[in-house]
Amino acid sequence: MPSILDHDTVALDESAHALVIIDQTLLPGEIKLLHLTKQNEIWEAIKALRVRGAPAIGVAAAIGLYLAAREIEADDRAGFLKKLHGAADYLNSARPTAVNLSWALARMERAAAQSGAETPEKVREALRRECLAIWEEDIDVCRRLGENGLTLVKPGFGLLTHCNAGQLATVRYGTATAPMYLGHARGYGFRVYCDETRPLLQGARLTSFELSSAGIDTTLICDNMAASVMKKGLIDAVFVGCDRVAANGDAANKIGTLGVAILAKHFGIPFYVVAPSSTIDMNTPTGADIVIEERDGGEICEMWYERRMAPEGIKTWNPAFDVTEHDLVSAIVTEYGVARAPYDVSLREIFAKKEAARK
Ligand code: MRU
Repeated sequence: MPSILDHDTVALDESAHALVIIDQTLLPGEIKLLHLTKQNEIWEAIKALRVRGAPAIGVAAAIGLYLAAREIEADDRAGFLKKLHGAADYLNSARPTAVNLSWALARMERAAAQSGAETPEKVREALRRECLAIWEEDIDVCRRLGENGLTLVKPGFGLLTHCNAGQLATVRYGTATAPMYLGHARGYGFRVYCDETRPLLQGARLTSFELSSAGIDTTLICDNMAASVMKKGLIDAVFVGCDRVAANGDAANKIGTLGVAILAKHFGIPFYVVAPSSTIDMNTPTGADIVIEERDGGEICEMWYERRMAPEGIKTWNPAFDVTEHDLVSAIVTEYGVARAPYDVSLREIFAKKEAARK
Protein backbone atom coordinates (compact mmCIF):
# COMPACT_ATOMS: atom_id res chain seq x y z
CA MET A 1 0.00 0.00 0.00
CA PRO A 2 1.42 3.46 -0.88
CA SER A 3 2.51 5.38 2.19
CA ILE A 4 2.95 9.07 2.97
CA LEU A 5 6.69 8.36 2.90
CA ASP A 6 6.54 7.50 -0.82
CA HIS A 7 6.05 11.18 -1.63
CA ASP A 8 8.64 13.93 -1.46
CA THR A 9 7.26 16.67 0.76
CA VAL A 10 8.34 19.35 -1.72
CA ALA A 11 9.38 19.00 -5.36
CA LEU A 12 9.69 20.84 -8.66
CA ASP A 13 7.59 19.50 -11.52
CA GLU A 14 9.66 20.73 -14.44
CA SER A 15 7.17 19.86 -17.15
CA ALA A 16 4.24 21.59 -15.43
CA HIS A 17 6.48 24.41 -14.11
CA ALA A 18 4.93 23.86 -10.70
CA LEU A 19 5.88 23.52 -7.07
CA VAL A 20 4.46 20.21 -5.88
CA ILE A 21 3.64 19.85 -2.18
CA ILE A 22 1.60 17.54 -0.01
CA ASP A 23 -1.22 19.65 1.49
CA GLN A 24 -0.33 19.08 5.15
CA THR A 25 -3.50 20.73 6.43
CA LEU A 26 -5.43 17.67 5.20
CA LEU A 27 -3.24 15.03 6.85
CA PRO A 28 -3.63 12.38 8.06
CA GLY A 29 -7.11 11.99 6.57
CA GLU A 30 -6.24 12.74 2.97
CA ILE A 31 -3.00 12.67 0.99
CA LYS A 32 -3.46 15.36 -1.64
CA LEU A 33 -0.71 16.75 -3.84
CA LEU A 34 -0.99 20.41 -4.81
CA HIS A 35 0.61 21.79 -8.00
CA LEU A 36 1.26 25.47 -7.36
CA THR A 37 2.35 27.81 -10.13
CA LYS A 38 1.40 31.31 -8.98
CA GLN A 39 3.30 33.34 -6.41
CA ASN A 40 0.22 34.13 -4.33
CA GLU A 41 -0.61 30.40 -4.16
CA ILE A 42 2.90 29.60 -2.94
CA TRP A 43 2.82 32.42 -0.39
CA GLU A 44 -0.56 31.22 0.88
CA ALA A 45 0.65 27.60 1.09
CA ILE A 46 3.54 28.67 3.33
CA LYS A 47 1.40 31.01 5.44
CA ALA A 48 -1.40 28.45 5.91
CA LEU A 49 1.09 25.67 6.73
CA ARG A 50 0.15 23.54 3.71
CA VAL A 51 3.91 23.25 3.45
CA ARG A 52 5.66 23.77 6.77
CA GLY A 53 8.72 22.95 8.84
CA ALA A 54 11.82 25.10 8.47
CA PRO A 55 13.76 23.15 5.79
CA ALA A 56 10.65 22.39 3.70
CA ILE A 57 9.66 26.06 3.72
CA GLY A 58 13.15 26.97 2.49
CA VAL A 59 13.07 24.45 -0.36
CA ALA A 60 9.52 25.48 -1.33
CA ALA A 61 10.52 29.15 -1.42
CA ALA A 62 13.61 28.40 -3.54
CA ILE A 63 11.47 26.55 -6.09
CA GLY A 64 8.88 29.32 -5.83
CA LEU A 65 11.48 31.96 -6.64
CA TYR A 66 12.65 30.00 -9.68
CA LEU A 67 9.04 29.87 -10.87
CA ALA A 68 8.74 33.62 -10.27
CA ALA A 69 11.87 34.15 -12.34
CA ARG A 70 10.24 32.34 -15.27
CA GLU A 71 7.53 35.02 -15.32
CA ILE A 72 9.76 38.07 -14.92
CA GLU A 73 9.97 40.31 -17.95
CA ALA A 74 13.00 42.57 -18.11
CA ASP A 75 15.17 44.05 -20.84
CA ASP A 76 18.43 43.49 -19.09
CA ARG A 77 20.11 41.66 -16.27
CA ALA A 78 19.90 44.57 -13.78
CA GLY A 79 16.16 44.98 -14.33
CA PHE A 80 15.70 41.26 -13.97
CA LEU A 81 17.62 41.08 -10.67
CA LYS A 82 15.60 43.99 -9.27
CA LYS A 83 12.31 42.24 -10.00
CA LEU A 84 13.72 38.99 -8.64
CA HIS A 85 14.49 40.77 -5.37
CA GLY A 86 10.89 42.00 -5.16
CA ALA A 87 9.64 38.43 -5.65
CA ALA A 88 12.01 37.13 -2.94
CA ASP A 89 10.80 39.81 -0.49
CA TYR A 90 7.22 38.78 -1.13
CA LEU A 91 7.83 35.08 -0.41
CA ASN A 92 9.96 35.95 2.61
CA SER A 93 7.05 37.85 4.15
CA ALA A 94 4.96 34.65 4.51
CA ARG A 95 6.48 33.59 7.86
CA PRO A 96 9.12 35.29 10.04
CA THR A 97 10.70 32.75 12.40
CA ALA A 98 12.24 29.94 10.33
CA VAL A 99 15.53 31.30 9.02
CA ASN A 100 15.56 28.67 6.25
CA LEU A 101 13.06 30.81 4.35
CA SER A 102 15.30 33.88 4.09
CA TRP A 103 18.40 31.64 3.86
CA ALA A 104 17.10 29.85 0.77
CA LEU A 105 15.86 33.03 -0.90
CA ALA A 106 19.17 34.82 -0.25
CA ARG A 107 21.04 31.83 -1.66
CA MET A 108 18.90 31.94 -4.81
CA GLU A 109 19.48 35.66 -5.24
CA ARG A 110 23.22 35.15 -4.76
CA ALA A 111 23.20 32.43 -7.40
CA ALA A 112 21.50 34.79 -9.80
CA ALA A 113 23.83 37.69 -9.04
CA GLN A 114 27.01 35.62 -9.18
CA SER A 115 26.09 33.52 -12.19
CA GLY A 116 27.82 35.93 -14.51
CA ALA A 117 25.01 35.22 -16.97
CA GLU A 118 24.36 38.07 -19.35
CA THR A 119 20.75 37.48 -20.30
CA PRO A 120 17.64 36.94 -18.17
CA GLU A 121 17.31 33.55 -19.86
CA LYS A 122 20.68 32.43 -18.57
CA VAL A 123 20.02 33.80 -15.06
CA ARG A 124 16.80 31.75 -15.03
CA GLU A 125 18.80 28.65 -15.83
CA ALA A 126 21.19 29.42 -12.95
CA LEU A 127 18.16 29.72 -10.65
CA ARG A 128 16.75 26.40 -11.85
CA ARG A 129 20.03 24.67 -11.04
CA GLU A 130 20.26 26.37 -7.63
CA CYS A 131 16.77 25.41 -6.45
CA LEU A 132 17.42 21.80 -7.49
CA ALA A 133 20.74 21.91 -5.63
CA ILE A 134 18.98 23.17 -2.47
CA TRP A 135 16.42 20.36 -2.85
CA GLU A 136 19.09 17.67 -3.26
CA GLU A 137 21.25 19.01 -0.46
CA ASP A 138 18.31 18.88 1.93
CA ILE A 139 18.06 15.12 1.40
CA ASP A 140 21.80 14.60 1.91
CA VAL A 141 21.90 16.88 4.97
CA CYS A 142 19.03 15.00 6.64
CA ARG A 143 20.83 11.67 6.06
CA ARG A 144 23.91 13.06 7.78
CA LEU A 145 21.82 14.46 10.66
CA GLY A 146 20.53 10.92 11.11
CA GLU A 147 24.04 9.43 11.30
CA ASN A 148 25.24 12.10 13.74
CA GLY A 149 22.11 11.89 15.90
CA LEU A 150 22.39 8.12 16.11
CA THR A 151 25.72 8.46 17.93
CA LEU A 152 23.79 9.88 20.91
CA VAL A 153 21.42 6.98 21.49
CA LYS A 154 21.35 3.26 22.21
CA PRO A 155 19.09 0.45 21.00
CA GLY A 156 15.83 0.24 22.92
CA PHE A 157 15.78 3.93 23.86
CA GLY A 158 12.52 5.72 24.52
CA LEU A 159 12.56 9.03 22.61
CA LEU A 160 10.26 12.01 22.88
CA THR A 161 9.71 14.57 20.15
CA HIS A 162 7.62 17.73 19.84
CA CYS A 163 5.85 19.14 16.77
CA ASN A 164 6.92 17.68 13.42
CA ALA A 165 10.58 17.75 12.52
CA GLY A 166 10.01 14.74 10.31
CA GLN A 167 9.99 13.87 6.64
CA LEU A 168 7.02 16.22 6.29
CA ALA A 169 9.19 19.14 7.44
CA THR A 170 11.97 18.42 4.95
CA VAL A 171 12.22 16.83 1.50
CA ARG A 172 12.92 13.40 3.05
CA TYR A 173 13.86 11.80 6.42
CA GLY A 174 13.36 14.86 8.61
CA THR A 175 15.79 16.35 11.11
CA ALA A 176 14.83 15.22 14.63
CA THR A 177 13.30 12.07 13.13
CA ALA A 178 16.30 11.22 10.92
CA PRO A 179 18.05 9.26 13.71
CA MET A 180 14.74 7.51 14.42
CA TYR A 181 14.34 6.34 10.81
CA LEU A 182 17.98 5.33 10.57
CA GLY A 183 17.93 3.52 13.93
CA HIS A 184 14.74 1.76 12.94
CA ALA A 185 16.35 0.54 9.70
CA ARG A 186 19.29 -0.76 11.77
CA GLY A 187 17.08 -2.61 14.27
CA TYR A 188 17.43 -0.24 17.23
CA GLY A 189 13.85 -0.85 18.34
CA PHE A 190 13.13 2.69 19.55
CA ARG A 191 9.88 3.60 21.30
CA VAL A 192 8.94 7.10 20.15
CA TYR A 193 6.54 9.35 22.07
CA CYS A 194 5.03 12.23 20.08
CA ASP A 195 3.60 15.31 21.78
CA GLU A 196 0.36 16.19 20.02
CA THR A 197 1.57 19.84 19.84
CA ARG A 198 -1.24 22.29 20.49
CA PRO A 199 -2.72 24.22 18.82
CA LEU A 200 -2.06 22.97 15.26
CA LEU A 201 -1.46 19.32 16.21
CA GLN A 202 1.62 18.74 14.08
CA GLY A 203 2.65 15.93 16.45
CA ALA A 204 -0.71 14.18 16.28
CA ARG A 205 -1.53 14.76 12.62
CA LEU A 206 1.94 14.53 11.11
CA THR A 207 4.67 13.00 13.30
CA SER A 208 2.67 10.11 14.72
CA PHE A 209 1.31 9.48 11.20
CA GLU A 210 4.65 9.38 9.41
CA LEU A 211 6.54 7.45 12.11
CA SER A 212 3.85 4.81 12.50
CA SER A 213 3.62 4.55 8.68
CA ALA A 214 7.31 3.63 8.75
CA GLY A 215 6.62 0.84 11.26
CA ILE A 216 8.26 2.64 14.21
CA ASP A 217 6.77 1.94 17.66
CA THR A 218 4.95 5.26 18.09
CA THR A 219 2.85 6.51 21.01
CA LEU A 220 0.90 9.75 20.83
CA ILE A 221 0.52 11.79 24.02
CA CYS A 222 -1.07 15.14 24.81
CA ASP A 223 1.44 17.91 25.50
CA ASN A 224 0.56 17.94 29.19
CA MET A 225 1.52 14.25 29.54
CA ALA A 226 5.22 14.75 28.79
CA ALA A 227 6.10 15.12 32.50
CA SER A 228 4.33 11.87 33.31
CA VAL A 229 6.08 9.77 30.65
CA MET A 230 9.40 11.21 31.78
CA LYS A 231 8.65 10.53 35.44
CA LYS A 232 7.75 6.93 34.58
CA GLY A 233 11.25 6.49 33.13
CA LEU A 234 9.98 5.94 29.60
CA ILE A 235 12.11 8.64 27.97
CA ASP A 236 15.88 8.34 27.52
CA ALA A 237 16.36 11.33 25.23
CA VAL A 238 14.41 14.19 23.65
CA PHE A 239 14.99 15.09 20.00
CA VAL A 240 13.41 18.23 18.57
CA GLY A 241 13.85 20.23 15.40
CA CYS A 242 14.35 23.94 15.21
CA ASP A 243 13.37 27.03 13.22
CA ARG A 244 16.35 29.20 14.07
CA VAL A 245 19.40 28.67 16.26
CA ALA A 246 21.02 31.90 17.42
CA ALA A 247 24.81 32.28 17.55
CA ASN A 248 24.81 31.56 21.31
CA GLY A 249 22.89 28.28 20.89
CA ASP A 250 19.43 29.55 21.90
CA ALA A 251 16.93 27.69 19.74
CA ALA A 252 13.48 28.76 18.55
CA ASN A 253 11.13 25.87 17.88
CA LYS A 254 7.41 25.13 18.00
CA ILE A 255 5.60 26.59 21.00
CA GLY A 256 5.86 24.17 23.91
CA THR A 257 9.44 23.11 23.20
CA LEU A 258 10.73 25.27 26.06
CA GLY A 259 8.47 23.46 28.51
CA VAL A 260 9.73 20.08 27.28
CA ALA A 261 13.34 21.25 27.72
CA ILE A 262 12.66 22.42 31.28
CA LEU A 263 11.06 19.06 32.08
CA ALA A 264 13.97 17.16 30.51
CA LYS A 265 16.40 19.08 32.71
CA HIS A 266 14.29 18.36 35.80
CA PHE A 267 14.30 14.63 35.07
CA GLY A 268 17.96 14.50 33.96
CA ILE A 269 17.09 13.55 30.37
CA PRO A 270 19.32 14.78 27.51
CA PHE A 271 17.61 17.34 25.29
CA TYR A 272 18.92 17.43 21.72
CA VAL A 273 18.18 20.04 19.06
CA VAL A 274 18.69 18.71 15.54
CA ALA A 275 19.45 21.54 13.14
CA PRO A 276 20.91 21.63 9.66
CA SER A 277 23.45 24.44 9.29
CA SER A 278 20.83 26.27 7.18
CA THR A 279 18.82 26.69 10.41
CA ILE A 280 21.75 28.18 12.35
CA ASP A 281 21.79 31.95 12.09
CA MET A 282 25.12 33.36 13.21
CA ASN A 283 23.79 36.86 12.46
CA THR A 284 21.23 36.55 15.26
CA PRO A 285 23.20 36.91 18.52
CA THR A 286 20.69 35.43 20.99
CA GLY A 287 17.19 33.99 21.20
CA ALA A 288 15.88 37.39 22.30
CA ASP A 289 16.66 38.66 18.79
CA ILE A 290 14.50 36.03 17.06
CA VAL A 291 11.15 37.28 15.72
CA ILE A 292 8.40 34.99 17.01
CA GLU A 293 5.45 34.56 14.69
CA GLU A 294 2.06 35.27 16.26
CA ARG A 295 -0.91 33.61 14.61
CA ASP A 296 -4.65 34.05 14.61
CA GLY A 297 -6.46 33.21 17.85
CA GLY A 298 -8.97 31.16 15.85
CA GLU A 299 -6.34 28.40 15.80
CA ILE A 300 -6.81 28.03 19.56
CA CYS A 301 -10.57 28.47 19.75
CA GLU A 302 -11.97 26.88 16.60
CA MET A 303 -9.56 25.11 14.34
CA TRP A 304 -9.81 21.27 14.34
CA TYR A 305 -12.92 21.41 16.58
CA GLU A 306 -16.37 20.54 15.25
CA ARG A 307 -17.66 23.60 17.04
CA ARG A 308 -16.02 26.55 18.77
CA MET A 309 -14.45 25.55 22.11
CA ALA A 310 -13.90 28.96 23.69
CA PRO A 311 -16.19 31.86 24.58
CA GLU A 312 -16.98 34.25 21.73
CA GLY A 313 -14.77 37.31 21.94
CA ILE A 314 -12.25 35.80 24.40
CA LYS A 315 -8.79 37.38 24.24
CA THR A 316 -6.14 35.01 22.91
CA TRP A 317 -2.37 34.97 22.57
CA ASN A 318 -1.05 32.51 19.99
CA PRO A 319 2.73 32.59 19.53
CA ALA A 320 3.79 29.84 17.12
CA PHE A 321 7.27 29.35 18.62
CA ASP A 322 9.25 29.71 21.82
CA VAL A 323 12.95 29.96 22.53
CA THR A 324 14.81 27.32 24.49
CA GLU A 325 17.84 28.90 26.15
CA HIS A 326 21.14 27.25 25.31
CA ASP A 327 21.78 26.10 28.88
CA LEU A 328 18.84 23.70 28.53
CA VAL A 329 20.24 22.19 25.33
CA SER A 330 22.51 19.15 25.81
CA ALA A 331 23.79 19.26 22.22
CA ILE A 332 22.96 20.63 18.78
CA VAL A 333 23.18 17.95 16.09
CA THR A 334 24.24 19.31 12.69
CA GLU A 335 25.29 17.68 9.43
CA TYR A 336 28.88 18.64 10.27
CA GLY A 337 28.90 17.03 13.73
CA VAL A 338 27.49 17.41 17.23
CA ALA A 339 28.01 20.82 18.83
CA ARG A 340 28.12 21.19 22.60
CA ALA A 341 28.44 24.15 24.97
CA PRO A 342 29.97 26.66 24.78
CA TYR A 343 27.91 27.08 21.59
CA ASP A 344 29.40 30.41 20.58
CA VAL A 345 32.63 28.44 20.03
CA SER A 346 31.27 25.09 18.81
CA LEU A 347 28.85 26.59 16.27
CA ARG A 348 31.69 28.62 14.78
CA GLU A 349 33.63 25.37 14.46
CA ILE A 350 30.67 23.79 12.65
CA PHE A 351 30.72 26.62 10.09
CA ALA A 352 34.51 26.32 9.73
CA LYS A 353 33.99 22.64 8.84
CA LYS A 354 31.27 23.61 6.37
CA GLU A 355 33.60 26.14 4.74
CA ALA A 356 36.44 23.60 4.58
CA ALA A 357 34.13 21.03 2.96
CA ARG A 358 33.19 23.55 0.28
CA LYS A 359 36.83 23.97 -0.84
O1 MRU B 1 4.72 25.97 12.42
P1 MRU B 1 5.48 24.82 11.84
O2 MRU B 1 4.68 23.58 11.74
O3 MRU B 1 6.16 25.19 10.55
O4 MRU B 1 6.63 24.56 12.91
C1 MRU B 1 7.60 23.60 12.63
C2 MRU B 1 8.53 23.36 13.74
O5 MRU B 1 8.50 24.00 14.76
C3 MRU B 1 9.60 22.34 13.49
O6 MRU B 1 9.98 21.71 14.68
C4 MRU B 1 10.84 23.04 12.89
O7 MRU B 1 10.48 23.80 11.78
C5 MRU B 1 11.88 22.07 12.51
S1 MRU B 1 11.46 21.17 11.09
C6 MRU B 1 12.72 20.13 10.69
